[in-house]
Amino acid sequence: MITTKVHKENQFKMAESFGSASKSYDVSARLQRFSGKHLMPWLPNKNDLRVLDLGSGTGFFTDLLATTYKDVIGLDFSKGMLKFAKNCRNQNIQWINADAHKIPLQNESIDFIYSNLVLQWCEPLDNAIKEMLRVLKPGGLIVFTTLVDGTLHELKSSWAKVDDDQHVIDFKSEDQLAKYFNTDNSQIFEHKCQDIVLEYQNVIHLARELKGLGANHLPKKKNRGLSGKDKWFAMTDHYQEFVEPNGIYPATYCLYSGLVVKLNNPS
Ligand SMILES: C[S@@+](CC[C@H](N)C(=O)[O-])C[C@H]1O[C@@H](n2cnc3c(N)ncnc32)[C@H](O)[C@@H]1O
Repeated sequence: MITTKVHKENQFKMAESFGSASKSYDVSARLQRFSGKHLMPWLPNKNDLRVLDLGSGTGFFTDLLATTYKDVIGLDFSKGMLKFAKNCRNQNIQWINADAHKIPLQNESIDFIYSNLVLQWCEPLDNAIKEMLRVLKPGGLIVFTTLVDGTLHELKSSWAKVDDDQHVIDFKSEDQLAKYFNTDNSQIFEHKCQDIVLEYQNVIHLARELKGLGANHLPKKKNRGLSGKDKWFAMTDHYQEFVEPNGIYPATYCLYSGLVVKLNNPS
C-alpha cells in the first residue's frame, strides 16, 4: 500500500486533472473507444458475475458492462469523472471513489476486472496489479489495455530536442508488464500489441486532445508553468520531421491488450 505524502499529492493532482476533463472527455476519447471495444471478445459470456471497471472514467464502458453483467462496480479516483458517470449511466451501477493502489473491496470478491487505458497512469504499477489480484477470485480474469513505451514518441523526441523536462509520461515496456502479471498466482493468458497512429491537424490539436482527456498531469515535470512560447515553437519545428506529405501530424499509441487469469491452485 502506498501512503507517502508525495504519492498522495500526485494522485490528487492527477485525479483533479482527469476530473476537469470529465465534460470534454467523451468527445476526445477516440483511442479509448477503439481500445475498449477491442477488449469485448475476451469478456466472459456468463451473466451472473461481479465485475469491477477499474478507472471507469465517464462510465461509458461501465454502462456497457451493466447491460450484460448482474453486479457492476465502477471505480475511479476522480470525483469529477464519477459525478459525470453517476448522472449519465445505468442507475444499478455501484460507483466507488478510490485509488487503484488501495481498492476498498474484500479479498477474492470480484469475478472479473475490466480496465481500459488506466494502468499507464498507475505508479507504482506492480502495487496496483497486486491490489487487482487480491480482490479477484481464484480463476477470475483481468481484461485490460494500456499504453507501452514508444507511445507518443514523436512528441517525446521533439521535446527532448528542446529541454530535459518531462512532457510525456514514462510508459512501461511489454517485459515489465509480463514481469508484473506473470506471478505465482497469475498468468497472462493472451496478449496483443498494436501501434495505432492517430492523425492531427497540428501539434495544438494533439495537445488539446491530450488535455481534453485529462492526460496532462505529469508527475515528474519540473517546470510547472506553461512551457515558454519559444520552447513550444522549437518543439513544433522538430515535430515537422514526422509530418506526412498530406500535411497530417501523426501521433503513435502503442496499445497493449491483455487477458490475465488468476490461477486456481498457485504452486
Ligand atoms: C484514460 S481514462 C479511461 C477511462 C475509461 N476506462 C474509458 O475507457 O473511457 C483513465 C481513467 O483512469 C482514472 N485513473 C487513473 N489513475 C487511477 C488510479 N490510480 N486509481 C483510480 N483511477 C485512476 C482516471 O481518473 C480516468 O478516469
